[in-house]
Amino acid sequence: VSRRLSRRRLLELAGVGGAVAVAGGGVALLDRRDDPSQDEVAEVVPYHGVHQAGIVTPQQEHLRFASYDLTAAGADELQSLLRTWSTAAVRLTAGAAATRGASSEYAPPADTGEAMGLPPARLTLTFGLGPGVFDDRYGLASRRPAALADLPRFQRDQLEPESSGGDLCVQACATDPQVAFHAIRNLTRLAQGSASLRWLQEGFLSPPTRGGEQTPRNLMGFRDGTANLDPSDDDLMNRNVWAAAADGPTWMADGTYLVARKIRIRIEQWDRTALGEQERFVGRSKESGAPPGGTEESDPVTTSKLDVASHIRLANPRTGAQSEAGRILRRGYNFDEGVDEIGQLAAGLFFLAYQRDPRRQFTAIQSRLAESDLLNEYLFHTGSAIFAVPPGTQAGQHIAQGLFASTA
Ligand code: HEM
Repeated sequence: VSRRLSRRRLLELAGVGGAVAVAGGGVALLDRRDDPSQDEVAEVVPYHGVHQAGIVTPQQEHLRFASYDLTAAGADELQSLLRTWSTAAVRLTAGAAATRGASSEYAPPADTGEAMGLPPARLTLTFGLGPGVFDDRYGLASRRPAALADLPRFQRDQLEPESSGGDLCVQACATDPQVAFHAIRNLTRLAQGSASLRWLQEGFLSPPTRGGEQTPRNLMGFRDGTANLDPSDDDLMNRNVWAAAADGPTWMADGTYLVARKIRIRIEQWDRTALGEQERFVGRSKESGAPPGGTEESDPVTTSKLDVASHIRLANPRTGAQSEAGRILRRGYNFDEGVDEIGQLAAGLFFLAYQRDPRRQFTAIQSRLAESDLLNEYLFHTGSAIFAVPPGTQAGQHIAQGLFASTA
């Protein structure tokens, strides 16, 4: 939720209220103009809340997603990293420098500087814990959420270790790619000694408003997100996305689970496929997004009019309560990484899905897709990761604090 905030309020939210008074005294608050009417202050997504930001937040255009390997020696060091990251995230999302450190001519600057003078750009930072947090290194194995189950190997997977897995993740989304990069760079720097970068993924999408309130398109040229869950529907989010206390463990209540899949699209092959085939394979019209028999994107889907192996029919069989409960919140981004070794576009979809329990949501869907989706000829999955995304925090708390509490 973007809100118009005064600069003072902004700093209060960021917990850096004192910084104004001492700004002249060397606090490394980035150089901001002081007029609260300026757009930059309106571009803050509040960091604190019941849930982490960046999940039901309307999708910003740019993504930098980082996955880390933990090198921390024990649970205390892990907790201390999460505390450091949480403090920095409050500041970064408010448009401040990563840390409060004063600058000195004789030391590297506390903040790397490339976001100096830039607005907060609706930056959200969403943190996740991978299965490695619960292996035998940290004594937390008994606290591993059942829903954070390792994903099975799916048919056709061509996973590369260099874009899969990770003990921790940070999803940075912003309207300015440099702001997102800056956040990841500084969080990585702060993690030094405790966690190291494993892989990094960039993503982009054109904002819906640019196409006249339309659903953004993926690189297959189709609208992507038409039948997505509506993130503004709280009841639906409670049913399908947010973990409940009763799901266990209690420290994950109001959190969620993230599945990330890096999916390459065989673009050249797709571009040689007849329009009628493309539409039959997806199950929607390319231009309008309407299902077969309909004229509007929002028209209801008649399952019997879809090819049995079309993407949307397999992704959502619409067979009642079970397929309703299996629906996921998709929040993916397009990616484009130059040219591959055989001269083809190395582009695709970095698929991100949030859900209450991947075992009966992502995994159930992907098992069906991997087996017979008509799009399979044009897709291959090269990266995969799963993370528990703890609930949001209030001022003074850190991410996954409940995990470390003795009664968790
Ligand atoms: C590069 C890979 C993929 C592409 C290009 C793609 C494309 C699309 C398109 C064009 C739609 C129709 C519009 C919409 O409702 O959003 C769609 C729907 C959907 N996709 Fe995908 N998709 C991909 C991968 C996946 C994966 C890996 C999953 C989950 C395992 C998935 C799950 C869904 C779901 C649940 C829907 C909505 C179905 C409905 O309720 O009608 N997709 N996708």
